[in-house]
Amino acid sequence: MNFLLTDEQEMIRKMVRDFAVNEVGPTAAERDEEERFDREIFDQMAELGLTGIPWPEEYGGIGADYLSYCIAVEELSRVCASTGVTLSAHVSLAGWPVYMFGTEEQKQKYLRAMAEGSKIGAYGLTEPGSGSDAANMKTTAEKDGDSYILNGSKIFITNGGLADYYIVFAVTDAAKKHKGVSAFIVEKEFPGFSVGKKEEKLGIRSSPTTEIIMEDCRVPAENLLGEEGQGFKIAMMTLDGGRNGIAAQAVGIAQGALDASTGYANERKQFGKPIGEQQGVAFKLADMATKIEASRLLTYQAAWRESEKLPYSKASAMSKLMAGDTAMEVTTEAVQVFGGYGYTKEYPVERYMRDAKITQIYEGTNEIQRLVISKMLLAD
Ligand code: CAA
Repeated sequence: MNFLLTDEQEMIRKMVRDFAVNEVGPTAAERDEEERFDREIFDQMAELGLTGIPWPEEYGGIGADYLSYCIAVEELSRVCASTGVTLSAHVSLAGWPVYMFGTEEQKQKYLRAMAEGSKIGAYGLTEPGSGSDAANMKTTAEKDGDSYILNGSKIFITNGGLADYYIVFAVTDAAKKHKGVSAFIVEKEFPGFSVGKKEEKLGIRSSPTTEIIMEDCRVPAENLLGEEGQGFKIAMMTLDGGRNGIAAQAVGIAQGALDASTGYANERKQFGKPIGEQQGVAFKLADMATKIEASRLLTYQAAWRESEKLPYSKASAMSKLMAGDTAMEVTTEAVQVFGGYGYTKEYPVERYMRDAKITQIYEGTNEIQRLVISKMLLAD
């Protein structure tokens, strides 16, 4: 067993850290305040190859592994969790299902454009009435000649409005329950497709989250992803990798909050010495660092399993559960280390705390992760 990163993984970490610190971090607070997505940052990520990080060069990617991808999401989230999730949803939720289930034509058309970053991707599973109970979706897709006609709406779509391509799940045969769900690649220009309400959120405010609406939306039959009835499986398998991307985001948020806290604990003096030299704060920092490291190891392990083509559903559920809970705990403690200042916008820790909360909710709540883990334990 070897816990050292490869030269390539170290190089990617350094490149993304430099980019994050110099180009993403300086405007993170302002973009959060203004709820503003910056397309230039996305274009810069594309130039660095991040938008196609795990995809082979023949599809416009840079052919790195899933661990490199997680390291990139972690480093971005260390300064700006919104930028981290923009990349995560684009790569894991939109790129991955096309890479795994797409035809050669679909990969050349859609995956290549997303990998090169000329187009942005998103994933539409959740509906107003079906969140955790994803199989209970109501959006329908009816075959009409050489098209499908989609009707319904999806909510909480990360990259909603920005995205050019949406992986949309819809019922093609209601009698078959989850086995009657199919997946489609929907372009934003398809007739009958529109973007609905944009959410106002507690955190990840510079990553837009919207509703998408399909009203007699005509989708060419060639845009069916995988086979009819395979959609629920595609949705679940996509989330397996997506969840580990969110774990990486959570590790990055927690690390960013710890970095800020150690810096402050060295500077801030009370009772004649730095607060970091006082056990109440020092022990907090030690606990924060230990939990982050445990979360990072689980996350890297799950990414490694995916790259090695080993089963990783349980590993990803565990990494997201652990890292999401850690991010919430660590960022809350970070605010405590900063005291009254931590509660203000003068320091970044309140933003980290707001951003951390979503990692316990999206891509399956942490309660759903416990369900996934326990089901697999009991089936073993
Ligand atoms: N891989 C492959 N197949 C899987 C699978 C996986 N990880 N998980 C389930 N399946 C298959 C099962 O094997 C089963 O197949 P068969 O019928 O052939 O046996 C089928 O799917 C149904 O499985 P379950 O009976 O376990 O399904 P369920 O209805 O009980 O639901 C669930 C399981 C885990 C609760 C699932 O519904 C779930 O993950 N819910 C949470 C949804 C979620 O994460 N939503 C997030 C949306 S994305 C987002 O957050 C927005 C964003 O943009 C970031």
